[in-house]
Amino acid sequence: MRKVDYGTDAPGVIRTLFVIGGLLLAGAVFGPPAIGPLRVGGTSVTVGLRGMFTGGAISCLLGGALMILYAEVGKFRHRDRMLAMIPWTGTENVLDVGTGRGLLAIGAAKRLTAGRVVGIDIWNASDLTGNTADGFLANAEVEGVAERVEVRNADARRMPFPDGSFDVVLSNVCLHNIPDATGRAEACREIGRVLRPGGVALISDFRETALYATAFKEADFDVERSGLGLFDTYPPMRIVTARKPAA
Ligand SMILES: C[S@@+](CC[C@H](N)C(=O)[O-])C[C@H]1O[C@@H](n2cnc3c(N)ncnc32)[C@H](O)[C@@H]1O
Repeated sequence: MRKVDYGTDAPGVIRTLFVIGGLLLAGAVFGPPAIGPLRVGGTSVTVGLRGMFTGGAISCLLGGALMILYAEVGKFRHRDRMLAMIPWTGTENVLDVGTGRGLLAIGAAKRLTAGRVVGIDIWNASDLTGNTADGFLANAEVEGVAERVEVRNADARRMPFPDGSFDVVLSNVCLHNIPDATGRAEACREIGRVLRPGGVALISDFRETALYATAFKEADFDVERSGLGLFDTYPPMRIVTARKPAA
């Protein structure tokens, strides 16, 4: 029987943290305990290396381990926290921006009886393991929501949807991947454009959330930015809630 698999975020970052952490650990165990004495401004200084290597190794290895924990456990708690913020009627049309393997889109589809969910993505391999539209559709099949979801290849900055197409727009750890602030603000304006009047967007990310909040405020949305969710996610994330004014 096939199992759902929502992938591991930023696998290259996790690999790098483990490699650097391993090298620092080796330095702490096998390297010289200190360098010096060095002459600094007429004073003789000895720099302890073991503590620095050990501290660096712990930070890197812990960071990598917490990112794996997020992929295995935290992202599901975070998804549920986000989806619980919407008072679902079951008939919503929903968009998930940067859907990846469908974490939020499929979670939303399970709350619908008549509505539909569209997931858009550009399928960056470096952002998520196994990041493909087929991976999304396989998960939707196993979760029993295939008839309620659809995937489209589309960039968050230029969406192929008419104005006001969606009641709810969701996005998790996607928009920070857009390399420039202009592009990130453009993506927020696109999200605002495709939301219907009175609709709501939930944008979650570990950085740039102040920029998202500003972009939505400039479009006269009613905006809230949550505190850092310290325990479910690593890195800790904030959720921007942006409500489009009713017509
Ligand atoms: C870290 S993954 C998160 C996937 C999913 N939202 C989740 O929480 O599991 C980020 C996703 O954003 C997508 N992405 C990055 N830049 C994008 C863009 N400009 N437009 C649409 N999707 C984008 C990546 O391809 C990737 O699937």
